[in-house]
Amino acid sequence: MKKILITGVCGLIGSHLADALLSKGYRVTGLDDLSVGKLNNIRHNLRDPKFKFVKADILDAKTLGRFVRRADIVAHLAAAKKIGESGNALDTLTVNIDGTRNIFEAAKNTKAKVLLASTSDVYGLSNDIPFREDGDLVIGSPTAKRWAYAVSKICAEQLAFSYYKEYKVPVVIVRYFGCFSPRASFTSTSGHIPLFIDAILNDKAVVIHGDGKQTRSMGSVDDVVRGTVLAIQNHKAVGEIFNIGNDEEISVIGSARLIHKIASTGKKLKLKFIPYKKIFGTYEDIRRRVPCLDKAKRVLGYRPEISLADSIRHTIKIRREAI
Ligand SMILES: NC(=O)c1ccc[n+]([C@@H]2O[C@H](COP(=O)([O-])OP(=O)(O)OC[C@H]3O[C@@H](n4cnc5c(N)ncnc54)[C@H](O)[C@@H]3O)[C@@H](O)[C@H]2O)c1
Repeated sequence: MKKILITGVCGLIGSHLADALLSKGYRVTGLDDLSVGKLNNIRHNLRDPKFKFVKADILDAKTLGRFVRRADIVAHLAAAKKIGESGNALDTLTVNIDGTRNIFEAAKNTKAKVLLASTSDVYGLSNDIPFREDGDLVIGSPTAKRWAYAVSKICAEQLAFSYYKEYKVPVVIVRYFGCFSPRASFTSTSGHIPLFIDAILNDKAVVIHGDGKQTRSMGSVDDVVRGTVLAIQNHKAVGEIFNIGNDEEISVIGSARLIHKIASTGKKLKLKFIPYKKIFGTYEDIRRRVPCLDKAKRVLGYRPEISLADSIRHTIKIRREAI
């Protein structure tokens, strides 16, 4: 029975990943500092003898190292995701770079396989649509607060490759495109879909950054988790990067309209546009964000199975009961 450590287990993806791996017979240790994630997301697993929860910070190298060394596989999902709005770039850089380094420092002796959760954000301003894993990463002006998260994840990816090459730590990198479920934080770290759902269910204005014509490719957390498990289990994935998510492209304003239509609240859709400058300072927007999933399909046999509309429908149903 393989032992896996999931960092960020109380978050959106980590908690669903724990469910999936437990159902496949893995022994799962989940670690989280509960800074964003909720214990409620994993409460249903706390009595499972194959599951153990540890409240710890990935910046605490000693504690983290103890658990990394006991694992055959580490799914490193813990991250600070604040993207500009809060202006807390230092936290983002510290947690995502130093925390990732702590993981690899502990794994370099045991050679545990490490899956690193990266992000579509690393493609930055690239116009090379759809984004391919070997494409250029185009980061914007250093004076825009926007880039700390992308830079931290690029740095984490480079750390992963360095430990792979220099210490033979088997690594797999997954670049997630946005996903959500009822377990999302429903704060600015959860991306726009959960925020739009709450606004529409509560008859509040949907806050749109910029003109809303920028596109994103969002999907179900179940597809993301399936792709993650495939990446963990496939030995051909070692040393590789995979885009994982949904390639259904939709504008931000289009997703607000879709949610409004699915929610059928009987109220009018209210939109509030906020100029980027107000949130991010100097800023060029990422106009289109679409993954090329060919490599994930070819190597892992991955493709998304749940439509964006179905995923929204499910999240609205559960969220309605919660609020
Ligand atoms: N959800 C998405 O759409 C998406 C898209 C791209 C990339 N990602 C990446 O996937 C991973 C998981 O994302 P998610 O959406 O589940 O995020 P999330 O915020 O829901 O979960 C992250 C978890 O990490 C924990 N955490 C944060 N700092 C920590 C620290 N110092 N020590 C221990 N735990 C800490 C938080 O409490 C939280 O439970 C992240 O690495 C994120 O960058 C997610």
